Amino acid sequence: EPTAAVNDGLGLDEAVKAATLSTPEYRQCPHPYYKVLREQAPVVRLTPRHGVDTYLITRYEEAHAALADPRIGKDMHEGIDLYHALFGDACETLDDNLLFADPPRHTRLRHIAKTAFTPRHVKDLRPHIEELANELLDRCPTDEPVDLMKAFALPLPVMVICELLGIVGVERTEVLKWFSVVTRSRFSKDMKDDLVEAEHWLRDYFTEHIRCTRANPTDDFLTVLVQTRHEEEALTDDELVSMIWVLLFAGHKTTTLQIGNSVFNLLTHPEQLRALQEDRELMPQAIEELLRYEGSVETSTFRYALEDVEIGGTVIPQGAIVQIALTGANRDPEKFPAPDTLDITREHLQREHLGFGFGPHFCLGAPLARLELEICLTALLDRFPDMVLALPDSDAGDWLKGPFPAFRGLEKLPVA
Ligand code: HEM
Repeated sequence: EPTAAVNDGLGLDEAVKAATLSTPEYRQCPHPYYKVLREQAPVVRLTPRHGVDTYLITRYEEAHAALADPRIGKDMHEGIDLYHALFGDACETLDDNLLFADPPRHTRLRHIAKTAFTPRHVKDLRPHIEELANELLDRCPTDEPVDLMKAFALPLPVMVICELLGIVGVERTEVLKWFSVVTRSRFSKDMKDDLVEAEHWLRDYFTEHIRCTRANPTDDFLTVLVQTRHEEEALTDDELVSMIWVLLFAGHKTTTLQIGNSVFNLLTHPEQLRALQEDRELMPQAIEELLRYEGSVETSTFRYALEDVEIGGTVIPQGAIVQIALTGANRDPEKFPAPDTLDITREHLQREHLGFGFGPHFCLGAPLARLELEICLTALLDRFPDMVLALPDSDAGDWLKGPFPAFRGLEKLPVA
């Protein structure tokens, strides 16, 4: 990481500009920029985006406070113009979910989702995830380099969520096909028609899937989700559709990229990899440290100031967008000593990182994500103890960073 080199001579203006424009250098490695911002302007106004003032928070204490601040909201209906600026004609039914809701609606949706998503449902997925991980690794060639993102990290999480939602067989293939159209087209201006077609297909399919679940109840996750009530009220069909959608969307790329980041950072820190190989009891804390060191969610999802809010000495005016740099906060030396050092034996503050967010929107799928990471890393360490990076010398920089706004991760991970 070029942290030290880039920091020499990097000024505040340059850091703000890089963050506003999301320059290639910033996207490649935002840590030096976050360092300057944390030190000099932990709550900074960026040049307006989509015509709306945007404030970026990079220091742990302020980030932590903002994530739980009820004066900073998320409801898309409060800022519907921004919603259209961001997502164009995307299907609102899908996005009308708990990630973009405030109390009391969020409380209700979250309560039902949490009641349905029991530890048993997560535990029951273990054998399936283990089988899936091993099947995918069986297919990896051992005599030539393989792109671990494509072969392993990409397919596994989305299949796990399909399993959780009872989407199986041919239907799963169809859902994955349309879902991949959405992930490819969501941030592309040229693919709006594809996006609309795919989102409508998924909405109709989920509606039918819910109808079938109601007609044939079992004890699976979706049945419990359909039947659970909060203050006498169950979820409506539209709410169920958007809940399925958010689980698929929020649980897919995040986990894919986190698997990639974790493997990459272990392979580039051989002493840490060796320590983990020699003592597997370190696995749970290694997973937390890898989430802190390079979490796959770079900035939290959009929030708005519902009123003027003072944070870290800066007044964020009502209506402004608030962006919280989770990866910046996770490298704050005031919170985590020697933050740029990956140290899987760090026990202290293990679960205080913001890799899964904090407050009312704390990641609903964190227990499942932790299980997936544990199974994936264990399978790789067991089966390929001699795995190394297979770096193409010429374009080492290019494959490192995928073009994913708000995420941090690898597009490719060639290993041998
Ligand atoms: C929320 C990270 C895996 C479902 C979040 C948030 C973060 C996050 C940072 C909060 C966003 C914000 O406050 O703006 C991650 C990471 C994962 C992961 C790093 C993998 C390593 C999953 C999985 C699922 C999931 C596997 C589902 C099966 C959700 C949902 C929310 C959420 C539903 C919204 C919760 C709410 O708004 O109340 N996640 N996530 N996530 N995550 Fe995850």
